[in-house]
Amino acid sequence: MKARFSVQFLLLLISVTALGYIGWVVSDQIVYRQRAQPIPFRHDMHAGKRKIACVYCHRGVYQGYQAGVPSVRECWACHRAMPKLLKDPKKYPGVTTLQQYWEAKKPIVWWKVYQLPDHVHFQHETHVARGIACTVCHGDVAAMPVVRQAHNPTMGWCVTCHRQQHAPVSCSTCHY
Ligand code: HEC
Ligand code: HEC
Ligand code: HEC
Ligand code: HEC
Ligand code: HEC
Repeated sequence: MKARFSVQFLLLLISVTALGYIGWVVSDQIVYRQRAQPIPFRHDMHAGKRKIACVYCHRGVYQGYQAGVPSVRECWACHRAMPKLLKDPKKYPGVTTLQQYWEAKKPIVWWKVYQLPDHVHFQHETHVARGIACTVCHGDVAAMPVVRQAHNPTMGWCVTCHRQQHAPVSCSTCHY
């Protein structure tokens, strides 16, 4: 009796652990949208170590809806001046891939980390003009080797801050 009980308990323990592990892996992909990017672009190197300003690459935050990501041409404009990185494909495989995109005149299709549904209206400009720092919504991106969501951009998250900062909360503010 006692032995059977512990075998069942052990099986239960194993399945709970396995389910937990699967859940952890899957939720990591759903919550953080952790999919490998076509090039392992590193914010900690560009924005962190090299201190390239966020807006140098994401100019759209000042006008329009999309923060935008630089084109291959813009990446290459800086990287072509650094042939040392190209001579070391073992250490910098991503730079060699970048060169291949440039030569093939192929755009890089990045996976989106943050994505709102189409019925939601969001503009960077309004928020940036109010002096809200990138870190408030995106976390310390300059320290991230891979960008992850600092906040899941749910309606509750938007509305909570709007209430705190006396910004409009009527439905039509954010929904068309
Ligand atoms: C204004 C200059 C500049 C721009 C623009 C720029 N980079 Fe870089 N990038 C650098 C520098 C400097 C390094 C070297 C970092 C180091 O080793 O400290 C680097 C390193 C890299 C690496 C190597 C990282 C590694 O560890 O393998 C990759 C890959 C890369 N960049 C891709 C890109 C892509 C893709 C873009 C465009 C979206 C881009 N870079 C735009 C300056 C730039
Ligand atoms: C050298 C160019 C460059 C600089 C500088 C840079 N970024 Fe980026 N950023 C990119 C590229 C390329 C991507 C797309 C690939 C990725 O997600 O890593 C990106 C993606 C992002 C994303 C995820 C967007 C999404 O939803 O997919 C955020 C958020 C972001 N950057 C914020 C910042 C912030 C904040 C800074 C300054 C601390 C910064 N970036 C500096 C090039 C840059
Ligand atoms: C009030 C919160 C907030 C602030 C402040 C903010 N962002 Fe965002 N950001 C978002 C949301 C929400 C999205 C998703 C937008 C979408 O899917 O339409 C986003 C998307 C992005 C993207 C994805 C690319 C794109 O074109 O949509 C980048 C890059 C980005 N932000 C960079 C920045 C940078 C750089 C700053 C600071 C100058 C900044 N953000 C400030 C909330 C914010
Ligand atoms: C950290 C605080 C904060 C967060 C998070 C935030 N907002 Fe805002 N938002 C503001 C403030 C403050 C304003 C008012 C700007 C002004 O009127 O000058 C604003 C203004 C706006 C406006 C323009 C309103 C108007 O009529 O001019 C829209 C649209 C908007 N936010 C959508 C969103 C959406 C969608 C999200 C979530 C994805 C979001 N915001 C998240 C602080 C925030
Ligand atoms: C400050 C911005 C903001 C305001 C104000 C706002 N919403 Fe939203 N709403 C969002 C965002 C962002 C999403 C998408 C993310 C999510 O589903 O949580 C969303 C999603 C929704 C959805 C879809 C939910 C789903 O499960 O797909 C409905 C319905 C909705 N909102 C209704 C409303 C109504 C009704 C009001 C007014 C009482 C309102 N919203 C006000 C930002 C806002």
